[in-house]
Amino acid sequence: MNWIFGLAGLILLGLALYWLVIITEGVYLGRRVVIWLYDMTAGSYDGIKEFDNEFERGLIVRPLLTALAGRQEPFVLDVATGTGRVPLLLMNETGFDGRVIGLDASSRMLVQGSAKVATLSVEKRRRITLIRQSAERLPFRDNTLDAITCLEALEFFPSDRVALQEMVRVLRPGGFLMTSRRQGWESQFFLGRYRSKDNLAVLLNDLGLTNVEYYPWQVNYDMVTALK
Ligand SMILES: C[S@@+](CC[C@H](N)C(=O)[O-])C[C@H]1O[C@@H](n2cnc3c(N)ncnc32)[C@H](O)[C@@H]1O
Repeated sequence: MNWIFGLAGLILLGLALYWLVIITEGVYLGRRVVIWLYDMTAGSYDGIKEFDNEFERGLIVRPLLTALAGRQEPFVLDVATGTGRVPLLLMNETGFDGRVIGLDASSRMLVQGSAKVATLSVEKRRRITLIRQSAERLPFRDNTLDAITCLEALEFFPSDRVALQEMVRVLRPGGFLMTSRRQGWESQFFLGRYRSKDNLAVLLNDLGLTNVEYYPWQVNYDMVTALK
């Protein structure tokens, strides 16, 4: 009989670990664990994601360039840049003549990003900066960025509200925010952290953003845009 309890205990432990480490990526274990997990898996991140450049250009780059139209040498911040997804997409776009800062708390994700940046021309490299920093404290003055992106990351921050508040602080009036909202079956496992479309829209409005819009994007994410 005891072996049945033992087996049930092991199964429960396995499920708990699967939830804590795989589905929610350490978020209930604290920021350090989240970053440690990204440090550990940084080398395989791009291989797992298999980003499709054409799809990315249509859904990320095009709306960004539209929002930045008319701004000379726009200043863009990518919060939780990972391996430099948005900075590299923008630099490979002929219509973009601005600067991009990619910020992430995982040094190994940034190392992967830096290796890709190193393959760009000197002129493009000069316009990208990757910095190791937490999303909760952005090292910029108020109202300085023309656009901020933060993709596939809000649900892993200790507080999405605090991080968004910082983004709004450094975004200039009229500036453009592009972020993502977790959806799909896994989103239900982000207990106490899941945000419905309405709930996230209320938060963004509370923080001073307007024109909140949602676009279908990936199985696990909606794309969200807003203006300050
Ligand atoms: C799923 S990845 C997304 C990376 C990139 N935005 C993309 O779309 O490929 C989540 C990223 O958030 C970063 N991250 C998690 N918590 C963070 C925090 N508190 N501050 C800054 N970056 C954080 C991780 O290191 C990781 O690179």
